[in-house]
Amino acid sequence: MDLRGRRALVTGASSGIGVSFAKQLAKSGASIVLTARRKERLEALAEQIRKEHGVTVEVVACDLGKPDGAKALWDATEGKGTQIDVLINNAGFGTKQPFVEQSWDKTFEELQLNLVSLTELTKRFSQVMVKRKSGHILNVASVGAYLPTPSMASYGAGKAYVRNFTEGLAYELSGTGVRACCLCPGATESEFADTAGLKLASWKKLAYMSADRCASIGLSALFRGRRNIVSGFWNSVGMFSLRFVPRPIAAWLAATFL
Ligand SMILES: NC(=O)c1ccc[n+]([C@@H]2O[C@H](COP(=O)([O-])OP(=O)(O)OC[C@H]3O[C@@H](n4cnc5c(N)ncnc54)[C@H](OP(=O)(O)O)[C@@H]3O)[C@@H](O)[C@H]2O)c1
Repeated sequence: MDLRGRRALVTGASSGIGVSFAKQLAKSGASIVLTARRKERLEALAEQIRKEHGVTVEVVACDLGKPDGAKALWDATEGKGTQIDVLINNAGFGTKQPFVEQSWDKTFEELQLNLVSLTELTKRFSQVMVKRKSGHILNVASVGAYLPTPSMASYGAGKAYVRNFTEGLAYELSGTGVRACCLCPGATESEFADTAGLKLASWKKLAYMSADRCASIGLSALFRGRRNIVSGFWNSVGMFSLRFVPRPIAAWLAATFL
C-alpha cells in the first residue's frame, strides 16, 4: 500500500485493533485522524506515530455510542474540509450477559455504536467519496456475524448486519472508484474480552490472534478489493464449515465455546 498524500480516519483507535490499523496506515504514508473517547490515549498514540512515521496525525475525541456522535465526527473532519480517503469503522463493543438482564441503555449504546454510527459514517463519507470517484471503507464485524451468539445475542446480530450491509454496499459501489470491505475478526488480543466480561480459560487465549495480524488482514483485503474477509485460516475454515451446521447446533456451539 502506498498511501502517501491520503488521509485515513480510524474509529476505536485508543486500543486493540484500532491502534494497529492506525500504525499500519501511517507506515504506508497516510495522514491519520484518530478517534475514540479516551483522548489521552489518542494523544499518546498520535505522538508515537508522528515520531515513528513522520506523518500528520489529528485527534478527535468523540462518543459514537451517542446519537449525535457520528455527525460530530463528520463536522470535525470532512465537514470542515479535512478530506478522508480511507474510513476504518472499527469502534465496537459487546457485553456477555443474557439479553433480558441487560439494561436498555447498555443495549442501545451497543447498537448505536456498532450499527447506527457505523452506518451514518459510511453514508456521509461514501457520498463524498463517490463524488470524488475515490475512497476505501473498511467496516469491522466479527465471526459472530456467522451464527447466533447466545449471551451476546444483540452483538452477534449487529455484526451480521454490518457484514450484510457492507457486502451489499460493496456491490452497489462497483465501478464508482470507491471500495467497501467487511473484516470479520475471530478472537483477537485487545481489550474487547475485558470490556465484554468474557472470562477466558488459558487454552482459549492460545487461539488469540495479534491485533497487528488482524488489522493487516483487513487492510490487505480492503486494498485488494475483497468485499468480506474472515481473519485467519482456521477462523475461515470454521466459518465455512458453519454452512453445513443446523442453526440450533450453531447456537449451542456459540453458547458453549464463546
Ligand atoms: N478482539 C476480538 O476478539 C474481536 C473479535 C471480533 C470482532 N471484534 C471487533 O473489533 C473491533 C475493535 O475491537 P477491539 O478488539 O480492538 O476492542 P477494544 O480494544 O476494546 O477497542 C474498542 C475500541 O472502540 C472504542 N469505543 C468503545 N466505545 C466507544 C464509543 N462509545 N465511542 C467511540 N469509541 C468507542 C474504544 O475506545 P474508547 O473506550 O476510548 O472510546 C476502543 O478504542 C470492534 O468492532 C469489535 O467488535 C473484536
